[in-house]
Amino acid sequence: MADRSVTVGTLEVTPPLFLAPMAGLTHSALRAVIAGFGGVGLFSSEMLSARSLPWENARISPFLVTTEAESPLSYQLLAGNVDEIAGAVARLEELGADAVDLNLGCAAPGVRRRGAGLALWSDLERLGKVVSEIRRRTALPFTAKIRLCSGSRRVSCQQEFQDRVKFLEALGVDAIYLHARRDREPFARKPQWKMAGLARQWLSIPLIVNGGIFSVPDARKCLEESGADGLMIGRAAAVRPWIFMEMASELYNTGSCPGIIDLPRVYMAFASELLERFPADRRLGRLKEFTHYFSRNYTFGNRLAMSVQRSRSVSEAMDKAMRFFEKNRGAERQHPVP
Ligand SMILES: Cc1cc2nc3c(=O)[nH]c(=O)nc-3n(C[C@H](O)[C@H](O)[C@H](O)COP(=O)(O)O)c2cc1C
Repeated sequence: MADRSVTVGTLEVTPPLFLAPMAGLTHSALRAVIAGFGGVGLFSSEMLSARSLPWENARISPFLVTTEAESPLSYQLLAGNVDEIAGAVARLEELGADAVDLNLGCAAPGVRRRGAGLALWSDLERLGKVVSEIRRRTALPFTAKIRLCSGSRRVSCQQEFQDRVKFLEALGVDAIYLHARRDREPFARKPQWKMAGLARQWLSIPLIVNGGIFSVPDARKCLEESGADGLMIGRAAAVRPWIFMEMASELYNTGSCPGIIDLPRVYMAFASELLERFPADRRLGRLKEFTHYFSRNYTFGNRLAMSVQRSRSVSEAMDKAMRFFEKNRGAERQHPVP
């Protein structure tokens, strides 16, 4: 059995199962549903713009609302400039963050334009300044989320990758989250868990591997191939919010197995969390995003996803979803993948 916990800075993460940051998905409603099942060692927010974070109203902001159950909770910063750090980190401290993560893997055009995510990872000088500033401003556990080496010349890029990962460690990062795909490599590509394992040999801080882990057998294989200290789960958490509970029980012998899951009930639980905490104009988009993934649990799930996608209100979407669930009893998939 793999180690039952991993120490990230001052935080003991037990079990070593991490929820991945996902824009539009890892908000309070999904986190609360996942928390209801248990098994998560560390939750995450979506990526949060360091620039606007100081001005967000934590009582109503869909990015910041949270409940006690979603704990411990790490907040991911999207930053491109050292000047953005002081205010953002002070805000996270004030919010009671349990950890701070820095996004160094996002390649979305808007993110690159502002010099954040992958653009920051590619600019050594700015990277050093931003990482050092976060470290200087907080004693909270501090992680960085990266992708595998980029570039076409594989050998030289591997050396560069090694240097950069060690650079992060030297600057005081407490753990690395490594998405085991190269930058801009589509999510449909097989993740390279073995290659991720190389970084394990270079580092003395924990390495948490992410990418393509959709089931307990995947998790076992990833641990075996990479030697990771922990696993980070993204899309599968929106398909099967009980996946952490399952992994905690099967891999780390903690808690119990989820048993038979009532899918419509999980969906309704998500919707009611949305209704409870999110402003009316912020609900439908999030319901659509979640449904896109959750619908994979059904053989004809694309029909559910499509009918919710076309809905103009949450109540219309819910009616359609209920009708779908009624008609599709017995059409659940045993091994859904995102
Ligand atoms: C809808 C969506 C939103 C994402 N948003 C973020 C984000 O805000 N920050 C980040 O570092 N990665 C983000 N990612 C990448 C995930 O954190 C994760 O690395 C990726 O989905 C691979 O893991 P998986 O195969 O378990 O899903 C996002 C991925 C998806 C699908």
